[in-house]
Amino acid sequence: MAIKLICVAGARPNFMKIAPLLRELDGDPDFQTVFVHTGQHYDAAMSDSFFRDLELRAPDWNLGVGSGSHAQQTAEIIRRFEPIVIEHKPDGVVVVGDVNSTAACALVTKKLGPALVHVEAGLRSFDRDMPEEINRIVTDSISDLLLVTEESGRRNLVREGVPEQRIVLTGNLMIDSLRTHLDRARQSGVLERLAVRPGEYGLVTLHRPSNVDNTEHLQDLVNALGMISLEVPLYFPVHPRTRARLSEISLPAGSRLNLLDPLSYLDFLGMMASAQVVLTDSGGVQEESTVLGTLCLTLRDNTERPVTVEQGTNTLAGTTSASVLAAWEKVKGKPPSQSMPPFWDGTAARRCRLALHEFFGNLQ
Ligand code: UD1
Repeated sequence: MAIKLICVAGARPNFMKIAPLLRELDGDPDFQTVFVHTGQHYDAAMSDSFFRDLELRAPDWNLGVGSGSHAQQTAEIIRRFEPIVIEHKPDGVVVVGDVNSTAACALVTKKLGPALVHVEAGLRSFDRDMPEEINRIVTDSISDLLLVTEESGRRNLVREGVPEQRIVLTGNLMIDSLRTHLDRARQSGVLERLAVRPGEYGLVTLHRPSNVDNTEHLQDLVNALGMISLEVPLYFPVHPRTRARLSEISLPAGSRLNLLDPLSYLDFLGMMASAQVVLTDSGGVQEESTVLGTLCLTLRDNTERPVTVEQGTNTLAGTTSASVLAAWEKVKGKPPSQSMPPFWDGTAARRCRLALHEFFGNLQ
């Protein structure tokens, strides 16, 4: 009998992880998949365009939970996911990443009995003020199979008492998507549409609550971006959470900080591939820029993805205007030193499938 798995995605950064895995599992007759989209992200720009660009099949279920406070959103996902697990009686549920959908579906799964698989397990920022850190700790602590993207993930889990045999270093599914779609991304035409030349602009993303929810803090960061933009024009596709706050602050006079609507996956990847620098507080962008060899300044004090600093192009730039400008002075113009973290080679989905095969094969 085929191994039946419910695979869950909910928010923008989940789609590039679930797409290569679903494709791989759907090509193997030993697996039967049910694809659930929680609807945590729902805008065309935050969700639909990613399905198109990633050639991700339509979900079997869309729970349509939408936005809300953490409690409301998490509760709504739990409430709507439970009957799906009861109806399908899967052997296991696969959750990816660290968003509210990940932790909510993990809780439902463990209480109903199927095995729980966490993809991108073990990452730790050691900053419990980040909602994602809580989602990671909760999910990992009840997972049965933990698939990790980098060695630090394994070390963290072992330190937390997870038995070694439950942990598999599979590499990075997000990089599978990057390698699959990079050629198309380079031809997306986004540079022509914005009238910019390769290497002559920078790219910005900011959406962490700790960076954008406080207007004064956001103003301080935007001041630094304004200064940097005098040297290299910056393009800033604005996340909906950030858009609301940006309307309350002023952009520095004379700056070349260009605000854009959220970009599609291919456009964003195409821009990142040819940017002089990326300034970001995203997790995934730290990983993608490492593989693209694009200089990355992370506007945070910590990262749950240390391999991007140790082996990649990433520098932690802190979260004040002064620290960001100091980091920029230090790195600008220098070619970023770079090597590829193990298994970030575009074949992580295959390793995930083999790990799932072995795990569920032993259960049957
Ligand atoms: C979520 C994840 C974060 C991830 C990010 C990527 C959690 C705790 N956070 O943060 O880890 O890096 O997604 O984008 O799960 N909104 C829209 N349209 C949408 C989605 C959201 O307008 O399609 C607006 C809503 O006003 C909402 C706000 O954006 O309140 C924030 O969305 P939410 O899903 O709560 O968290 P993100 O900040 O997107």
